[in-house]
Amino acid sequence: MDTNRLSKPMHDALNKQMTKEGNAAQIYLSYGVWADDKGYAGIANFLFRHAHEERNHMIKIMEYILERGGKPKIEALSAPPADPKSLTDCFNKIFKHEVDNTEGIYVLVDMAMKQKDWATWNFAQWFVKEQIEEEKLAMNLIDKLKIAGGDRASDESLFNLDKTLEQAPDDAALARNATEEKP
Ligand code: FEO
Repeated sequence: MDTNRLSKPMHDALNKQMTKEGNAAQIYLSYGVWADDKGYAGIANFLFRHAHEERNHMIKIMEYILERGGKPKIEALSAPPADPKSLTDCFNKIFKHEVDNTEGIYVLVDMAMKQKDWATWNFAQWFVKEQIEEEKLAMNLIDKLKIAGGDRASDESLFNLDKTLEQAPDDAALARNATEEKP
């Protein structure tokens, strides 16, 4: 009895996204190593924590494929891209990686809708919301660095930025949770 509830294209697309999340973890790890090597231990800590979050995303998709009767394939991960050239470059690239990841999630949502695979559509909604947070988190990094002076920031403001990011929460607040009292 075939109990796989995923179509072959959906199974493949989920598997591809699962690997993409694993690759995202590699990217955050490598950028974290770069930041630490440059002396930004707080930023490195933030990026290492985020790498952990990406691995969790990978696990979520792996578990979902299993839950639906499929068999996820654990694939080789890609080597991370070259080191960023500066903090601005690092944060800009993080934003681009997140937008690229969002596009991957939208492929799943689109396919689920076309196939009327409402279970996967429902599952993918968690990631749609998560990607709003992820993109916002990346935008916040860019904004914080810009306020600190960008690539011309003083040592003191970079020191403070590094400290701030060491203690920064892993999630960004979303508009949907805002109220008049807590905008
Ligand atoms: Fe798993 Fe940063 O998206």
